[in-house]
Amino acid sequence: MSLVDRIVKLKKEKSAIILAHNYQRSEIQDIADYVGDSIELSRKAMEEKKAKTIVFSAVDFMAESAAILNPEKKVLLPTLGARCPMAQMLTVDEIKRWKTRYPLAPVVLYVNTLATAKAFCDICCTSANAVEVVASLDSDTVLFGPDRNLAEYVQRKTGKTVIPIPEWGFCPTHLLFQPEDVKILKVQHPEASVMVHPECTFEMQKTADFVGSTSQMCRYAKESSAKTLIVGTEEGILHRLKKENPTKKFVLAYEEAVCPTMKLNTLERLYTCLKEEKYVITVPQPIARQARKALDRMFEISR
Ligand code: 13P
Ligand code: SF4
Repeated sequence: MSLVDRIVKLKKEKSAIILAHNYQRSEIQDIADYVGDSIELSRKAMEEKKAKTIVFSAVDFMAESAAILNPEKKVLLPTLGARCPMAQMLTVDEIKRWKTRYPLAPVVLYVNTLATAKAFCDICCTSANAVEVVASLDSDTVLFGPDRNLAEYVQRKTGKTVIPIPEWGFCPTHLLFQPEDVKILKVQHPEASVMVHPECTFEMQKTADFVGSTSQMCRYAKESSAKTLIVGTEEGILHRLKKENPTKKFVLAYEEAVCPTMKLNTLERLYTCLKEEKYVITVPQPIARQARKALDRMFEISR
């Protein structure tokens, strides 16, 4: 029996579903029950009625959110060390320091944070709804972390004062994209449309026809009349883009834009994860309760 067949069999036996992020390896996306961006995957995890186990093929903070939102289900992460480096950049102490400086400013945290940090914020957001979330708040100044580029994007879109916490938070993969590379690609593909993730720098965002979350980019690609699209996000998304748009051409704005953490998950690890039911992701109760409030508030605003 092939590895894929064994995974499918185990999935049935254990009443499990596989949720995979748009950056996962192609072979994982192909066997997943659902592929999406971070908010879609959280929603799917919440809506799932039948499965007892959710295999979250992504990184730590996404599996943690799924565990917080589904305390009655077993949430498994195929690789224990699959840590998003950006999510580690904001500590609770740092949040407390900024809250002391701006006691009246609400704290908005990108879901790319650890549950301990989420427990200290007022509301969460993802790249798909960050503008909507900040615009909905009854305050002209907000503390926003940990991604500085997303904070600046939200500030430009809402006109509010969005203070990045920490001042320097970033995604190492999205920092690889450079406007100079887009300029060269535009010469090679003059008709191409450019779409980028808001984790890219402002300079990079300025080159784009569209800025959005990974799934918003997938929708844009489908609806766009452009035959060629230059893509400013992690390379895993190309698999889905090509599958959904077989007649269109997709060019990565930087060939080596790979998130090493997302790529830690493999079919072999998925198989072991299901077979041995590891690694179970749990969040201690008081933290989960507080973090859930911030996630629920986000879902109230962004359905
Ligand atoms: P999306 O929510 O757009 O999928 O982004 C998650 C992420 O980690 C981007 O680097
Ligand atoms: Fe984290 Fe960046 Fe990887 Fe997304 S692409 S999971 S933000 S390191």
